[in-house]
Amino acid sequence: MPNTANTPRKILITSALPYANGPIHLGHLVEYIQTDIWARFQKMRGHTCTYVCADDAHGTPIMLRAQAEGITPEALIAKSSEEHQADFAGFNVQFDHYDSTNSAENKAFAEQIYLTLKEKGYISRKTISQYYDPEKEMFLPDRFVKGTCPKCKTDDQYGDNCEACGATYSPTDLINPTSAVSGATPIEKETDHLFFELNQFEEMLKTWTREGHLQTQIANKLDEWLNSGLRGWDISRDAPYFGFEIPGEKDKFFYVWLDAPIGYMSSFKTYCDQSGLNFDEYWKEDATTELYHFIGKDIINFHALFWPAMLTGAGFRKPTGIFAHGFLTVDGQKMSKSRGTFIMAKTYLEHLNPEYLRYYYAAKLTSRIDDIDLNLEDFAQRVNSDLVGKVINIASRCAGFVVKKFDGKLSGQWSPEATALYQSFADKSEEIAALYESRDYGHAMRDIMALADKANEYIAETAPWVLAKQEGKEAELHESVSVGINLFRVLISYLTPVLPVTADKANAFLKLENIAWNDIKKPLLDHEITKFKPLLTRLEMEGIQKMVDASASTMNNGKAAPDGKKERNDKKATSKQPSPAFEPIADEISIEEFAKIDLRIAKIIHAEAVPDAKKLLKLTLDIGNEQRQVFAGIKSAYEPEELIGKLTVMVANLAPRKMRFGLSEGMVLAAGPGGSDLYILSPTDGATPGMRVK
Ligand code: 2FM
Ligand code: ZN
Repeated sequence: MPNTANTPRKILITSALPYANGPIHLGHLVEYIQTDIWARFQKMRGHTCTYVCADDAHGTPIMLRAQAEGITPEALIAKSSEEHQADFAGFNVQFDHYDSTNSAENKAFAEQIYLTLKEKGYISRKTISQYYDPEKEMFLPDRFVKGTCPKCKTDDQYGDNCEACGATYSPTDLINPTSAVSGATPIEKETDHLFFELNQFEEMLKTWTREGHLQTQIANKLDEWLNSGLRGWDISRDAPYFGFEIPGEKDKFFYVWLDAPIGYMSSFKTYCDQSGLNFDEYWKEDATTELYHFIGKDIINFHALFWPAMLTGAGFRKPTGIFAHGFLTVDGQKMSKSRGTFIMAKTYLEHLNPEYLRYYYAAKLTSRIDDIDLNLEDFAQRVNSDLVGKVINIASRCAGFVVKKFDGKLSGQWSPEATALYQSFADKSEEIAALYESRDYGHAMRDIMALADKANEYIAETAPWVLAKQEGKEAELHESVSVGINLFRVLISYLTPVLPVTADKANAFLKLENIAWNDIKKPLLDHEITKFKPLLTRLEMEGIQKMVDASASTMNNGKAAPDGKKERNDKKATSKQPSPAFEPIADEISIEEFAKIDLRIAKIIHAEAVPDAKKLLKLTLDIGNEQRQVFAGIKSAYEPEELIGKLTVMVANLAPRKMRFGLSEGMVLAAGPGGSDLYILSPTDGATPGMRVK
């Protein structure tokens, strides 16, 4: 696989094509955000990089869904495509082209590939016996037959596997089978199907899967299949079916999974016709360009066995790399509609800034296929502490001085120390690029935040706010804030693939055009900037709660992410440092607005850890005439025992909030960037429980 050497490359990237019968949810977005970051990174490096995708528009579920909605499949997929594209655009996932598998180009490629495979003797015909719904007059896919598990006898299980005991079987093994379409008892019926002879590609696949195109975990998994012998792959479905009719056959259609990956080619072909790129340069058998597919770990066999075999058989190139990722869990569990954690893209966008999620996913992603966990409290804490507290803060602390004291101009000359500091930031560029390249985004984010800590330390040490008050210190002040702005610019450049909109705003503030990766080498000297406007605001738990509440109350459709391992509790080393992070002062409020907040002295009479919550302590507070139960996100900073008996300050008139663990009846006040660096307010000198703080 190519290394990160900064020589121009031609790269085609795809994400898996989402089915056109359900909305995009946060589980899907792990993949699209991961791919988009990679595509943006490659473009920033100056490579010719194209990112294409499409809706996966065929198959029985889409046909039945359209029937249920009383519309044509074409109308359903048109609506779905519009919704999907709006969701992707909302998350700043920027495809060069987005298409549909139900296109003339895809039909032409599917036919061409099938006919070539047939001509070369890779297609065979076999009679199979399959369940048939006599009322609906259609053959039933495995997932459309339900019945009692033959092994553990649990009712209402699908025809391919049992969700209770995990057994896999064929639909005809189910006890008391029924059709999920009509409720009728299915009958067994014989029919001819077409098969792609995968076994003829066994040797090729054994070599190809060990040539570095796949992650090791995946190659090992494939070995199990390859060593137990490959069987023919059933590529036809009988009418009625929404898909492409197979040339030379009557009432037979290509199985959705045959023309889905071909959608990668046809989407790109349409883009070539629009952009002037050369299709053959990317797809001919001996192509030297690079082709990468980002996929979920559940669809590896389609991409790492069937697809390379089909491409080889039909005389096309094989992928350079297949990058599989794990599933998403929310707060350590499978996404759940009742808990409100089955969150649709649209619902998220109604409440929160997409850049938050892009950063959080980036901070969690690795090159491996482990599942990733969206821990909602950690999400807020990390976004606020890293992005707002560390990165954006640098610009907000320095910009005012540059604008007010130096007419918006950065200094033109630096001391050797300042130059060396900048150089140490710029010198990280290839290391960080290599981490993006290998999709170790989490590691890249940690390295970038370590630099942000260094930048904040520099500002704390040079203390521009002190210099500004002293006479004869203009030159030092100018250097301090100019270097600060320059360090901010390096950080935001490194974060550009992850935070494209924030980077655009930062560029406007810095009066820069789009930044290329190599621009980082040169500092901005004698350069004019404009007034600073907040680039990213804090992520409030309230917004998250509203999103969860909205998700719980909407019964949307979508596929759930399968169960996954809980992500290891990834405490950042940086949270232990005395962080100089400074949060920008919030918007002004009136005295009347302030008077609405009822702050009370509270005595902590009991404190205990909430076992399922990484950050929460459950506190019982005495506020004079009553007791309150409050969940406080201070577990990382305090042992429960050390809090008992202490006085603190609480917001007593905050609307009670229903949390997963119980009702939270107020909020205790704490200061600090987070982690162990968090301090509850502790009044002394005669304060007693119940006193109002004014
Ligand atoms: O699993 C899925 O959601 C499929 N629609 C992915 C298709 S990817 C490609 F092969 F088209
Ligand atoms: Zn079972």
